[in-house]
Amino acid sequence: MSPRVALITGGAKGIGAAIAARLSADGWRVVVADRDPAGAAPAGGRYVVCDVGDEPAVAALARSIAVTERRLDALICNAGFMIRKPIADLSLAEWNSVLTTNLTSTFLLVREAEALLRVAKGTVVTIASTRAAMSEPDTESYAASKGGLVALTHALAISLGPDVRVNCISPGWIAMRDAELTPEEHAFHPAGRVGHTGDIAGMAAFLVGQDSGFITGAEFVVDGGVTRKMVYPE
Ligand SMILES: NC(=O)c1ccc[n+]([C@@H]2O[C@H](COP(=O)([O-])OP(=O)(O)OC[C@H]3O[C@@H](n4cnc5c(N)ncnc54)[C@H](O)[C@@H]3O)[C@@H](O)[C@H]2O)c1
Repeated sequence: MSPRVALITGGAKGIGAAIAARLSADGWRVVVADRDPAGAAPAGGRYVVCDVGDEPAVAALARSIAVTERRLDALICNAGFMIRKPIADLSLAEWNSVLTTNLTSTFLLVREAEALLRVAKGTVVTIASTRAAMSEPDTESYAASKGGLVALTHALAISLGPDVRVNCISPGWIAMRDAELTPEEHAFHPAGRVGHTGDIAGMAAFLVGQDSGFITGAEFVVDGGVTRKMVYPE
């Protein structure tokens, strides 16, 4: 039997690369789609240079999977970025660029992949953020995009069920280099440490697997407990 196929967006580095590596190690064939021309897929996978906010590019990506892999069992919508700027200085083009990559891309990807996902009785996992529910100053476009992604997740779960399960992971602070973190930054987290990419990859592996078969439309906050921690001034 051919291996299960997962498409991971934004998988050239960071959280997406960790999810791609984890699923590849678990026996999946992994297709990584990223706008970075210098990226790579794990061994045995396929790397596609693609801006996931570009409608024709996403349609071509889905067609290439239908032709090359001939199945799609999991779609991980992970590509995203933040612009941190006072709202007075934020242009409409900048606002739209964040919304397009972080939110509209999931609409485009699911629309183009729906038929393949339904046939496979597959799953979709979106990567939102705890910033869907809490904010620092000057992060309006990012917060709005991630809040929209949480809502889009449950809407898709209702429309695509029972064929396709759709769930969301909202990471907290996920560090790429542990050596740069201070003891205070770790201790601030109720779990005792800052998160690493493997924390999100592990949750993604669970959500695309059989053990999560009764879970759809849900948001999983993976933040070491920070959004449950009440903080008052000293
Ligand atoms: N790192 C964190 O602490 C954290 C916390 C909460 C949520 N997130 C979310 O997790 C996801 C991954 O974050 P990360 O920290 O690994 O980021 P990262 O910057 O390390 O990697 C993001 C990847 O997405 C790609 N990408 C960006 N825009 C794209 C587009 N339009 N088309 C295709 N590829 C595109 C980039 O090239 C890059 O390879 C993002 O959605 C981010 O918002 C991250």
